[in-house]
Amino acid sequence: MFRSQLLPSMAVLLLSLSPSLVLASTKQDYIDHTLNASDVLNQRWYSQDDGLWQDLWWNSGAIMATIGDVALSNNDFKQTAIDIYSNSLTAAKAANGNTWLNDFYDDEGWWAMGWIKAYDVTQDTKYLDAANEIFNDLLTGNDATCGGHWWSKEKKDNTAIGNELYLAVAASLANRMDDGTSYQKYAQSQVDWFLNAGFLNENNTISDGLNVTDNCERIGAVYSYNQGVILGALVEMNELTGNSSYLDIACEIAHAAIEQLATPNNGILTDVGYPKGPDPTGAQFKGVFARNLMYLQKARPDDDFVRFLQNNADSIWKNNRQADGQIGAFWQGPLQNVSAAAHSSALDCLLAAAAVSS
Ligand SMILES: *[C@@H]1O[C@H](CO)[C@@H](O)[C@H](O)[C@H]1NC(C)=O
Ligand SMILES: *[C@@H]1O[C@H](CO)[C@@H](O)[C@H](O)[C@H]1NC(C)=O
Ligand SMILES: *[C@@H]1O[C@H](CO)[C@@H](O)[C@H](O)[C@H]1NC(C)=O
Ligand SMILES: *[C@@H]1O[C@H](CO)[C@@H](O)[C@H](O)[C@H]1NC(C)=O
Ligand SMILES: *[C@@H]1O[C@H](CO)[C@@H](O)[C@H](O)[C@H]1NC(C)=O
Repeated sequence: MFRSQLLPSMAVLLLSLSPSLVLASTKQDYIDHTLNASDVLNQRWYSQDDGLWQDLWWNSGAIMATIGDVALSNNDFKQTAIDIYSNSLTAAKAANGNTWLNDFYDDEGWWAMGWIKAYDVTQDTKYLDAANEIFNDLLTGNDATCGGHWWSKEKKDNTAIGNELYLAVAASLANRMDDGTSYQKYAQSQVDWFLNAGFLNENNTISDGLNVTDNCERIGAVYSYNQGVILGALVEMNELTGNSSYLDIACEIAHAAIEQLATPNNGILTDVGYPKGPDPTGAQFKGVFARNLMYLQKARPDDDFVRFLQNNADSIWKNNRQADGQIGAFWQGPLQNVSAAAHSSALDCLLAAAAVSS
Protein backbone atom coordinates (compact mmCIF):
# COMPACT_ATOMS: atom_id res chain seq x y z
CA MET A 1 0.00 0.00 0.00
CA PHE A 2 1.30 3.52 -0.86
CA ARG A 3 2.11 5.81 1.98
CA SER A 4 -0.25 8.46 0.61
CA GLN A 5 -3.09 5.97 0.77
CA LEU A 6 -2.16 4.71 4.19
CA LEU A 7 -2.16 8.05 5.97
CA PRO A 8 -5.78 9.09 5.44
CA SER A 9 -7.05 5.64 6.39
CA MET A 10 -4.96 5.69 9.54
CA ALA A 11 -6.37 9.08 10.41
CA VAL A 12 -9.89 7.72 10.04
CA LEU A 13 -8.96 4.76 12.20
CA LEU A 14 -7.61 6.99 14.95
CA LEU A 15 -10.68 9.21 14.84
CA SER A 16 -12.97 6.24 15.06
CA LEU A 17 -10.99 4.72 17.90
CA SER A 18 -10.67 7.69 20.21
CA PRO A 19 -14.37 8.29 21.02
CA SER A 20 -14.95 4.60 21.60
CA LEU A 21 -14.27 5.01 25.29
CA VAL A 22 -17.25 7.32 25.47
CA LEU A 23 -19.34 5.02 23.28
CA ALA A 24 -18.52 1.83 25.18
CA SER A 25 -21.48 -0.51 25.46
CA THR A 26 -23.41 -0.50 28.72
CA LYS A 27 -24.97 -3.47 30.46
CA GLN A 28 -28.31 -2.37 29.01
CA ASP A 29 -26.81 -2.35 25.49
CA TYR A 30 -25.62 -5.93 25.94
CA ILE A 31 -29.06 -6.94 27.21
CA ASP A 32 -30.75 -5.26 24.22
CA HIS A 33 -28.32 -6.96 21.85
CA THR A 34 -28.94 -10.32 23.51
CA LEU A 35 -32.72 -10.01 23.18
CA ASN A 36 -32.54 -8.87 19.57
CA ALA A 37 -30.23 -11.78 18.68
CA SER A 38 -32.50 -14.23 20.54
CA ASP A 39 -35.57 -13.06 18.63
CA VAL A 40 -33.75 -13.11 15.29
CA LEU A 41 -32.51 -16.64 16.02
CA ASN A 42 -35.98 -17.96 16.68
CA GLN A 43 -37.80 -16.05 13.93
CA ARG A 44 -35.24 -16.92 11.31
CA TRP A 45 -34.34 -20.52 12.18
CA TYR A 46 -36.54 -22.21 14.78
CA SER A 47 -38.98 -24.70 13.31
CA GLN A 48 -42.13 -25.57 15.25
CA ASP A 49 -42.38 -28.71 13.10
CA ASP A 50 -39.11 -30.41 14.02
CA GLY A 51 -38.32 -28.41 17.18
CA LEU A 52 -34.82 -27.62 15.85
CA TRP A 53 -32.96 -24.58 14.60
CA GLN A 54 -32.14 -24.90 10.89
CA ASP A 55 -32.70 -28.67 11.23
CA LEU A 56 -29.34 -28.94 13.03
CA TRP A 57 -29.14 -31.80 15.53
CA TRP A 58 -26.30 -31.47 18.06
CA ASN A 59 -26.23 -27.72 17.61
CA SER A 60 -29.88 -27.51 18.60
CA GLY A 61 -29.05 -29.38 21.81
CA ALA A 62 -26.43 -26.72 22.55
CA ILE A 63 -28.88 -23.92 21.66
CA MET A 64 -31.37 -25.33 24.20
CA ALA A 65 -28.84 -24.33 26.86
CA THR A 66 -28.24 -20.94 25.26
CA ILE A 67 -31.90 -19.91 25.27
CA GLY A 68 -32.21 -21.20 28.84
CA ASP A 69 -29.45 -18.89 29.96
CA VAL A 70 -31.11 -16.00 28.14
CA ALA A 71 -34.33 -16.83 30.02
CA LEU A 72 -32.57 -17.13 33.38
CA SER A 73 -31.18 -13.62 33.10
CA ASN A 74 -34.11 -11.95 31.26
CA ASN A 75 -37.55 -12.59 32.66
CA ASP A 76 -39.23 -11.20 29.52
CA PHE A 77 -37.76 -14.04 27.50
CA LYS A 78 -38.77 -16.79 29.90
CA GLN A 79 -42.12 -17.67 28.32
CA THR A 80 -40.51 -17.92 24.88
CA ALA A 81 -37.99 -20.43 26.23
CA ILE A 82 -40.69 -22.41 28.04
CA ASP A 83 -42.75 -22.66 24.84
CA ILE A 84 -39.73 -23.84 22.85
CA TYR A 85 -38.82 -26.46 25.47
CA SER A 86 -42.35 -27.75 25.57
CA ASN A 87 -42.58 -28.00 21.78
CA SER A 88 -39.10 -29.45 21.23
CA LEU A 89 -39.45 -32.11 23.90
CA THR A 90 -41.95 -33.79 21.58
CA ALA A 91 -41.12 -32.43 18.14
CA ALA A 92 -37.31 -32.79 18.18
CA LYS A 93 -37.55 -36.28 19.62
CA ALA A 94 -40.05 -37.24 16.91
CA ALA A 95 -37.74 -35.79 14.27
CA ASN A 96 -35.00 -38.15 15.51
CA GLY A 97 -37.07 -41.34 15.32
CA ASN A 98 -38.65 -40.78 18.74
CA THR A 99 -35.40 -41.01 20.67
CA TRP A 100 -32.72 -38.65 22.01
CA LEU A 101 -30.05 -41.19 21.16
CA ASN A 102 -27.94 -41.63 18.04
CA ASP A 103 -24.50 -43.02 17.20
CA PHE A 104 -22.58 -40.15 18.81
CA TYR A 105 -22.21 -39.86 22.55
CA ASP A 106 -21.25 -36.21 22.26
CA ASP A 107 -24.48 -35.39 20.43
CA GLU A 108 -26.33 -37.05 23.28
CA GLY A 109 -24.31 -35.02 25.77
CA TRP A 110 -25.30 -31.71 24.18
CA TRP A 111 -28.96 -32.68 24.40
CA ALA A 112 -28.64 -33.84 28.00
CA MET A 113 -27.10 -30.48 28.93
CA GLY A 114 -29.90 -28.71 27.04
CA TRP A 115 -32.58 -30.54 29.01
CA ILE A 116 -30.78 -29.91 32.30
CA LYS A 117 -30.94 -26.20 31.46
CA ALA A 118 -34.64 -26.54 30.63
CA TYR A 119 -35.12 -27.99 34.10
CA ASP A 120 -33.22 -25.06 35.64
CA VAL A 121 -35.56 -22.64 33.86
CA THR A 122 -38.85 -24.47 34.46
CA GLN A 123 -38.20 -26.67 37.53
CA ASP A 124 -40.25 -29.25 35.63
CA THR A 125 -38.81 -32.72 36.29
CA LYS A 126 -39.88 -34.08 32.90
CA TYR A 127 -36.79 -32.32 31.51
CA LEU A 128 -34.58 -33.89 34.12
CA ASP A 129 -36.10 -37.25 33.14
CA ALA A 130 -35.08 -36.64 29.51
CA ALA A 131 -31.52 -35.83 30.60
CA ASN A 132 -31.45 -38.91 32.79
CA GLU A 133 -32.71 -41.12 29.97
CA ILE A 134 -29.77 -39.86 27.89
CA PHE A 135 -27.34 -40.35 30.77
CA ASN A 136 -28.31 -44.01 31.05
CA ASP A 137 -27.23 -44.46 27.44
CA LEU A 138 -24.01 -42.48 28.00
CA LEU A 139 -23.07 -45.08 30.59
CA THR A 140 -22.74 -47.64 27.77
CA GLY A 141 -19.75 -45.62 26.45
CA ASN A 142 -17.85 -45.61 29.69
CA ASP A 143 -15.30 -48.29 28.76
CA ALA A 144 -12.81 -46.52 26.48
CA THR A 145 -9.38 -48.03 25.83
CA CYS A 146 -7.43 -45.15 27.42
CA GLY A 147 -10.01 -44.84 30.18
CA GLY A 148 -12.86 -42.36 30.15
CA HIS A 149 -15.59 -42.18 27.55
CA TRP A 150 -15.89 -43.11 23.89
CA TRP A 151 -16.85 -40.46 21.33
CA SER A 152 -19.17 -42.68 19.29
CA LYS A 153 -20.78 -46.08 19.41
CA GLU A 154 -18.13 -47.37 17.01
CA LYS A 155 -15.85 -47.12 20.06
CA LYS A 156 -12.79 -46.03 18.10
CA ASP A 157 -12.11 -42.45 19.21
CA ASN A 158 -11.41 -40.89 22.57
CA THR A 159 -12.13 -37.17 22.39
CA ALA A 160 -11.99 -34.27 24.78
CA ILE A 161 -15.51 -33.14 23.91
CA GLY A 162 -17.10 -36.54 24.55
CA ASN A 163 -15.34 -36.83 27.89
CA GLU A 164 -16.09 -33.26 28.97
CA LEU A 165 -19.78 -33.55 28.13
CA TYR A 166 -20.07 -36.85 29.98
CA LEU A 167 -18.46 -35.23 33.03
CA ALA A 168 -20.66 -32.14 32.77
CA VAL A 169 -23.84 -34.23 32.54
CA ALA A 170 -22.88 -36.52 35.43
CA ALA A 171 -21.88 -33.63 37.72
CA SER A 172 -24.94 -31.54 36.78
CA LEU A 173 -27.30 -34.44 37.45
CA ALA A 174 -25.54 -35.16 40.75
CA ASN A 175 -26.27 -31.56 41.78
CA ARG A 176 -29.95 -31.80 40.79
CA MET A 177 -31.28 -35.32 41.40
CA ASP A 178 -32.96 -36.13 44.72
CA ASP A 179 -30.41 -38.85 45.28
CA GLY A 180 -27.27 -37.78 43.47
CA THR A 181 -24.94 -40.38 45.00
CA SER A 182 -24.43 -42.61 41.96
CA TYR A 183 -24.06 -39.64 39.61
CA GLN A 184 -21.46 -38.18 41.94
CA LYS A 185 -19.51 -41.44 41.82
CA TYR A 186 -19.40 -41.35 38.02
CA ALA A 187 -18.52 -37.66 37.96
CA GLN A 188 -15.72 -38.09 40.49
CA SER A 189 -14.05 -40.97 38.72
CA GLN A 190 -14.39 -39.18 35.37
CA VAL A 191 -12.84 -35.92 36.61
CA ASP A 192 -9.99 -37.76 38.37
CA TRP A 193 -9.24 -39.59 35.14
CA PHE A 194 -9.75 -36.66 32.75
CA LEU A 195 -7.44 -34.21 34.51
CA ASN A 196 -4.60 -36.74 34.37
CA ALA A 197 -5.30 -38.44 31.03
CA GLY A 198 -3.12 -36.15 28.91
CA PHE A 199 -5.75 -33.91 27.30
CA LEU A 200 -4.46 -31.05 29.44
CA ASN A 201 -1.28 -30.14 27.58
CA GLU A 202 1.91 -28.24 28.40
CA ASN A 203 0.23 -24.94 27.50
CA ASN A 204 -2.60 -25.42 30.01
CA THR A 205 -5.11 -25.89 27.22
CA ILE A 206 -7.06 -29.01 26.26
CA SER A 207 -6.09 -30.92 23.14
CA ASP A 208 -8.72 -32.60 21.00
CA GLY A 209 -8.14 -36.29 21.64
CA LEU A 210 -6.06 -39.29 22.68
CA ASN A 211 -4.67 -41.79 20.18
CA VAL A 212 -6.09 -45.13 21.26
CA THR A 213 -3.68 -47.06 19.02
CA ASP A 214 -0.57 -45.19 20.12
CA ASN A 215 -0.21 -45.31 23.87
CA CYS A 216 -3.01 -42.77 24.43
CA GLU A 217 -0.79 -39.93 23.16
CA ARG A 218 -2.60 -36.61 22.88
CA ILE A 219 -3.58 -35.64 19.34
CA GLY A 220 -5.38 -32.88 17.49
CA ALA A 221 -5.76 -29.15 17.64
CA VAL A 222 -6.84 -26.82 20.44
CA TYR A 223 -10.49 -25.94 19.75
CA SER A 224 -12.36 -23.31 21.71
CA TYR A 225 -15.26 -25.56 22.75
CA ASN A 226 -12.88 -28.02 24.39
CA GLN A 227 -11.72 -25.13 26.59
CA GLY A 228 -15.39 -24.33 27.30
CA VAL A 229 -17.42 -27.36 28.38
CA ILE A 230 -14.73 -28.26 30.92
CA LEU A 231 -15.14 -24.90 32.68
CA GLY A 232 -18.84 -25.48 33.35
CA ALA A 233 -18.13 -29.08 34.37
CA LEU A 234 -15.50 -27.95 36.89
CA VAL A 235 -17.87 -25.30 38.28
CA GLU A 236 -20.41 -28.11 38.84
CA MET A 237 -17.69 -30.25 40.48
CA ASN A 238 -16.81 -27.41 42.85
CA GLU A 239 -20.46 -27.09 43.80
CA LEU A 240 -20.78 -30.85 44.22
CA THR A 241 -17.69 -31.41 46.37
CA GLY A 242 -16.79 -28.01 47.83
CA ASN A 243 -13.27 -28.63 46.49
CA SER A 244 -12.25 -25.26 45.09
CA SER A 245 -9.20 -26.76 43.36
CA TYR A 246 -11.61 -27.37 40.49
CA LEU A 247 -12.09 -23.61 40.13
CA ASP A 248 -8.32 -23.06 40.24
CA ILE A 249 -7.88 -25.51 37.36
CA ALA A 250 -10.78 -23.95 35.43
CA CYS A 251 -9.20 -20.49 35.82
CA GLU A 252 -5.89 -21.73 34.48
CA ILE A 253 -7.54 -23.25 31.42
CA ALA A 254 -9.66 -20.14 30.82
CA HIS A 255 -6.68 -17.78 31.05
CA ALA A 256 -4.59 -20.01 28.79
CA ALA A 257 -7.39 -20.22 26.20
CA ILE A 258 -7.86 -16.45 26.16
CA GLU A 259 -4.12 -15.98 25.91
CA GLN A 260 -3.63 -18.49 23.09
CA LEU A 261 -6.87 -18.39 21.09
CA ALA A 262 -7.75 -14.71 21.43
CA THR A 263 -4.77 -12.53 22.35
CA PRO A 264 -2.92 -13.06 19.03
CA ASN A 265 -6.10 -11.85 17.25
CA ASN A 266 -6.61 -8.55 19.06
CA GLY A 267 -8.44 -10.30 21.83
CA ILE A 268 -11.06 -11.85 19.54
CA LEU A 269 -11.64 -15.58 20.01
CA THR A 270 -10.57 -17.46 16.90
CA ASP A 271 -10.63 -21.17 16.14
CA VAL A 272 -7.84 -22.90 14.27
CA GLY A 273 -9.95 -23.17 11.10
CA TYR A 274 -9.78 -19.39 10.57
CA PRO A 275 -9.25 -17.83 8.04
CA LYS A 276 -10.18 -20.84 5.90
CA GLY A 277 -13.45 -21.00 7.76
CA PRO A 278 -14.75 -23.52 10.21
CA ASP A 279 -17.36 -25.90 8.92
CA PRO A 280 -20.81 -24.38 9.42
CA THR A 281 -21.53 -26.36 12.54
CA GLY A 282 -18.07 -25.73 13.99
CA ALA A 283 -19.06 -22.09 14.19
CA GLN A 284 -20.86 -23.20 17.35
CA PHE A 285 -17.58 -23.75 19.20
CA LYS A 286 -16.69 -20.21 20.27
CA GLY A 287 -20.02 -19.56 21.96
CA VAL A 288 -19.63 -22.71 24.01
CA PHE A 289 -16.44 -21.21 25.45
CA ALA A 290 -18.08 -17.83 26.10
CA ARG A 291 -21.13 -19.33 27.83
CA ASN A 292 -19.06 -21.58 30.08
CA LEU A 293 -16.72 -18.70 30.89
CA MET A 294 -19.84 -16.89 32.11
CA TYR A 295 -20.51 -19.78 34.53
CA LEU A 296 -16.92 -19.60 35.76
CA GLN A 297 -17.09 -15.83 36.16
CA LYS A 298 -20.09 -16.26 38.49
CA ALA A 299 -18.19 -18.77 40.62
CA ARG A 300 -14.76 -17.09 40.49
CA PRO A 301 -14.94 -13.46 39.26
CA ASP A 302 -11.99 -12.20 37.22
CA ASP A 303 -11.69 -8.87 35.41
CA ASP A 304 -9.83 -10.51 32.53
CA PHE A 305 -12.91 -12.63 31.78
CA VAL A 306 -15.18 -9.57 31.82
CA ARG A 307 -12.93 -7.63 29.46
CA PHE A 308 -12.63 -10.61 27.12
CA LEU A 309 -16.39 -11.13 26.91
CA GLN A 310 -17.19 -7.43 26.44
CA ASN A 311 -14.51 -7.01 23.81
CA ASN A 312 -15.76 -10.01 21.83
CA ALA A 313 -19.42 -8.97 22.15
CA ASP A 314 -18.54 -5.48 20.90
CA SER A 315 -16.71 -6.91 17.91
CA ILE A 316 -19.57 -9.27 17.03
CA TRP A 317 -22.03 -6.38 17.09
CA LYS A 318 -19.83 -4.02 15.09
CA ASN A 319 -18.07 -6.30 12.60
CA ASN A 320 -20.11 -9.48 12.24
CA ARG A 321 -23.78 -8.59 11.90
CA GLN A 322 -25.97 -7.79 8.92
CA ALA A 323 -28.60 -5.05 8.88
CA ASP A 324 -31.48 -7.40 9.70
CA GLY A 325 -29.61 -8.71 12.75
CA GLN A 326 -28.31 -12.07 11.48
CA ILE A 327 -24.78 -12.86 12.67
CA GLY A 328 -21.88 -14.62 10.95
CA ALA A 329 -19.16 -17.06 11.94
CA PHE A 330 -16.13 -14.80 12.52
CA TRP A 331 -16.30 -12.58 15.55
CA GLN A 332 -13.68 -10.19 14.14
CA GLY A 333 -15.54 -10.02 10.83
CA PRO A 334 -15.88 -9.62 7.97
CA LEU A 335 -19.47 -10.81 7.99
CA GLN A 336 -19.80 -14.20 6.32
CA ASN A 337 -21.19 -17.71 6.81
CA VAL A 338 -24.36 -16.66 8.60
CA SER A 339 -26.15 -19.70 10.04
CA ALA A 340 -28.12 -20.76 13.09
CA ALA A 341 -24.91 -22.25 14.51
CA ALA A 342 -22.87 -19.08 13.94
CA HIS A 343 -25.68 -16.82 15.14
CA SER A 344 -26.46 -18.73 18.32
CA SER A 345 -22.76 -19.01 19.10
CA ALA A 346 -22.45 -15.23 18.94
CA LEU A 347 -25.59 -14.98 21.06
CA ASP A 348 -23.79 -16.95 23.79
CA CYS A 349 -21.15 -14.23 23.84
CA LEU A 350 -23.63 -11.33 23.80
CA LEU A 351 -25.48 -12.91 26.71
CA ALA A 352 -22.28 -13.59 28.64
CA ALA A 353 -21.20 -9.95 28.19
CA ALA A 354 -24.58 -8.79 29.49
CA ALA A 355 -24.45 -11.16 32.45
CA VAL A 356 -20.94 -10.21 33.59
CA SER A 357 -21.30 -6.44 33.09
CA SER A 358 -22.26 -4.24 36.00
C1 LIG B 1 2.09 -25.24 23.02
O1 LIG B 1 2.48 -23.98 22.51
C2 LIG B 1 3.61 -24.02 21.65
C3 LIG B 1 3.96 -22.58 21.31
O2 LIG B 1 2.89 -21.95 20.70
C4 LIG B 1 3.29 -24.87 20.42
O3 LIG B 1 4.40 -24.96 19.57
C5 LIG B 1 2.87 -26.26 20.86
O4 LIG B 1 2.44 -27.02 19.75
C6 LIG B 1 1.72 -26.16 21.86
N1 LIG B 1 1.39 -27.48 22.36
C7 LIG B 1 0.18 -28.06 22.14
C8 LIG B 1 0.00 -29.44 22.70
O5 LIG B 1 -0.72 -27.53 21.52
C1 LIG C 1 -2.30 -42.82 16.09
O1 LIG C 1 -1.07 -43.49 16.15
C2 LIG C 1 -0.86 -44.33 15.04
C3 LIG C 1 0.42 -45.14 15.31
O2 LIG C 1 1.50 -44.27 15.62
C4 LIG C 1 -0.76 -43.48 13.77
O3 LIG C 1 -0.57 -44.31 12.65
C5 LIG C 1 -2.06 -42.70 13.61
O4 LIG C 1 -1.97 -41.82 12.52
C6 LIG C 1 -2.37 -41.92 14.88
N1 LIG C 1 -3.71 -41.35 14.75
C7 LIG C 1 -3.93 -40.04 14.78
C8 LIG C 1 -5.38 -39.64 14.62
O5 LIG C 1 -3.07 -39.21 14.95
C1 LIG D 1 -9.50 -31.52 45.18
O1 LIG D 1 -9.37 -31.72 43.78
C2 LIG D 1 -8.02 -31.79 43.32
C3 LIG D 1 -8.06 -31.83 41.79
O2 LIG D 1 -8.59 -33.02 41.32
C4 LIG D 1 -7.35 -32.99 43.96
O3 LIG D 1 -6.01 -33.04 43.54
C5 LIG D 1 -7.42 -32.88 45.47
O4 LIG D 1 -6.92 -34.06 46.05
C6 LIG D 1 -8.88 -32.70 45.91
N1 LIG D 1 -8.90 -32.43 47.35
C7 LIG D 1 -9.63 -33.17 48.19
C8 LIG D 1 -9.61 -32.75 49.62
O5 LIG D 1 -10.33 -34.10 47.81
C1 LIG E 1 -32.94 -6.68 15.40
O1 LIG E 1 -32.26 -5.48 15.09
C2 LIG E 1 -32.24 -5.13 13.71
C3 LIG E 1 -31.51 -3.82 13.55
O2 LIG E 1 -30.24 -3.87 14.11
C4 LIG E 1 -33.66 -4.95 13.21
O3 LIG E 1 -33.65 -4.70 11.80
C5 LIG E 1 -34.45 -6.22 13.48
O4 LIG E 1 -35.81 -5.99 13.12
C6 LIG E 1 -34.38 -6.59 14.95
N1 LIG E 1 -35.06 -7.87 15.07
C7 LIG E 1 -35.86 -8.19 16.05
C8 LIG E 1 -36.50 -9.53 15.98
O5 LIG E 1 -36.05 -7.45 17.00
C1 LIG F 1 -18.17 -19.06 3.98
O1 LIG F 1 -18.24 -17.86 3.25
C2 LIG F 1 -17.26 -17.74 2.23
C3 LIG F 1 -17.37 -16.34 1.63
O2 LIG F 1 -18.67 -16.06 1.24
C4 LIG F 1 -17.49 -18.83 1.19
O3 LIG F 1 -16.48 -18.77 0.19
C5 LIG F 1 -17.43 -20.18 1.87
O4 LIG F 1 -17.77 -21.20 0.96
C6 LIG F 1 -18.42 -20.23 3.05
N1 LIG F 1 -18.23 -21.46 3.77
C7 LIG F 1 -19.23 -22.29 4.04
C8 LIG F 1 -18.85 -23.54 4.75
O5 LIG F 1 -20.40 -22.05 3.76
